[in-house]
Amino acid sequence: MITTSATVDYGFLREIVGRLSQNVLDPSRDYLFETRLTRLLRNEGMTQLEELVEHLRIRKNPSLERAIAEAMTINETSFFRDGRPFELLRTELLPALMEARRLTRTLRFWSAACSTGQEGYSLAMLMRENFPSLTSWNIRIEGTDIRNEVVERARHGLYHRIEMNRGLPARNVVRYFDHVGEDWVAKPELRQLCNFRQANLCQPPLPFHERFDVIFLRNVMLYFSQETRRTLMAGIHKLLASDGILFLGSAEQPSDPSLWNAILAGATCHFRPRSLP
Ligand SMILES: C[S@@+](CC[C@H](N)C(=O)[O-])C[C@H]1O[C@@H](n2cnc3c(N)ncnc32)[C@H](O)[C@@H]1O
Repeated sequence: MITTSATVDYGFLREIVGRLSQNVLDPSRDYLFETRLTRLLRNEGMTQLEELVEHLRIRKNPSLERAIAEAMTINETSFFRDGRPFELLRTELLPALMEARRLTRTLRFWSAACSTGQEGYSLAMLMRENFPSLTSWNIRIEGTDIRNEVVERARHGLYHRIEMNRGLPARNVVRYFDHVGEDWVAKPELRQLCNFRQANLCQPPLPFHERFDVIFLRNVMLYFSQETRRTLMAGIHKLLASDGILFLGSAEQPSDPSLWNAILAGATCHFRPRSLP
């Protein structure tokens, strides 16, 4: 069992994480610092969290603070996670959006808090697999995450066998990925639809100006305070097309319901922006 140490000032570390990523860590989970910061300590030539705290008390080190905040993020994700949003896009929402965008032939997606990119690549596969006519459209799938390490992995589209076994239909494996040793790498056909970059959702302004047709903002707001969620959702509202679609995680709700219409369909819930008076 991993325990906490009585001599480590976890509050000091929690403050760094809260300030840089707005992730609110509960003291009951302080033991996570012990496991998540092991590699960072080694890279810094340290063995104990006490040394890290002491080091940061004595001299400012913004890049080390950022590395701590990034290392403490939870990057759990999988292909076609919670399948229902993808199924609803396939059966109803994408056909309707394609009809609405038939003149511009442009569709923009944002996987906000994309982690290692499976959400973005799932969208790319969904379109390639079911809507061949979109090959001649201008399709952009943007993926952003605060953690540089996961963004790099998303960019390379490189996945271990275990990740491939989570949520990916067998036929998609050989159709959309190439085998590289123990791993699989997304084919250029998928990678060219996706663009991944590092961005903090809680550090205004949000990293885009152009509006999106579909935004996935799933399983990240649960780490934020109410106030942070409210600010973020107001920004997301501005970045979604007036007939655009927002998916949140199945346990998440918009903090300001007056901005959104919640729509139950396909055994899942999605959100449409209400127009502001
Ligand atoms: C649990 S994963 C969810 C991944 C994906 N959206 C999904 O539902 O499968 C949460 C992700 O949010 C990212 N994250 C946490 N705080 C963030 C912030 N302030 N800005 C951007 N991304 C953040 C983490 O790095 C992590 O990759």
